[in-house]
Amino acid sequence: MVGFDSSDDAAVYRINDETALIQTVDFFPPIVDDPFQFGQVAATNALSDVWAMGGTPKIAMNLLTFPSCLSLDVVKGILAGGYDKVQEAGAVIVGGHSIEDKEPKYGLCVAGFARPDEILTNSGAQIGDILVLTKPLGTGILSTGAKVGMLTEAEYNEMLALMTTLNQKGQQAMLPVHPTACTDITGFGLLGHVKEMAEGSGHTIRLWAEKIPIVPKALELARDGIIPGGAYNNRGYLADSVQEDSSLPLEVADVLYDPQTAGGLLITVPEPRAAELLSRLHDLGVPGAAIGTVEARQGAEVQVSWRQ
Ligand code: CO
Ligand code: CO
Ligand code: CO
Repeated sequence: MVGFDSSDDAAVYRINDETALIQTVDFFPPIVDDPFQFGQVAATNALSDVWAMGGTPKIAMNLLTFPSCLSLDVVKGILAGGYDKVQEAGAVIVGGHSIEDKEPKYGLCVAGFARPDEILTNSGAQIGDILVLTKPLGTGILSTGAKVGMLTEAEYNEMLALMTTLNQKGQQAMLPVHPTACTDITGFGLLGHVKEMAEGSGHTIRLWAEKIPIVPKALELARDGIIPGGAYNNRGYLADSVQEDSSLPLEVADVLYDPQTAGGLLITVPEPRAAELLSRLHDLGVPGAAIGTVEARQGAEVQVSWRQ
């Protein structure tokens, strides 16, 4: 049973020796203006926790709030976007619930199944493990930039592609390599989720910041101060847990605190199997990068190194 205490964002219920149920829910207000794209992003995000925990999503239910003034076409667009991604995942939508509200919000409640011995949590990392991240960072900053018209069409499409890429293939690549822990990167930003992993394992995690893949436009926007409020909140609550190298550029740090929407998987794997994980990700077209390592606890839970 995985509950509140280890900060995983899905619940696990063991049905018998072969099968465990994974249950998760996620919803939020529009990240992008286009209703279909918003539906896709919300579903990609909601499905993600099941893959992060080693499961296969099977059943999903819509959660929708919308103001009565919103046209039915917008509602249909959002639901169609959600349907599109759930279908791609190989799961089915079996209804849901909607209510009137001032602001539209959409997401899904997702149930999936896993073998109990393949369940992954965010707390199993071992000293010497390598951390692998499967999507570049920057979607919070990019969507903030998009809202004020600072992205080109190509930059917008790059952001959208990141937020609508399912973590399904990343999971396919990792399971045979027997990772020690996994989580998906969402609202707490990379550093928030790394902190949870470090705390759960009792060890310190060292990030090699120069190796962390970041969308170049996100660095540019961060340099110009286009940073979502959530990044400052993350920085604030992580102040005692993260030790940054004094040479770490501010715009890189900002991206490490940036809340991600439907971010990638963060996987820990014993060092001898890290190369295999990276090559399996590569073969499935998933951009994996080794971004850090697990060390015996010394000082802060998370240490951020910078080497240029
Ligand atoms: Co979640
Ligand atoms: Co999650
Ligand atoms: Co109902």
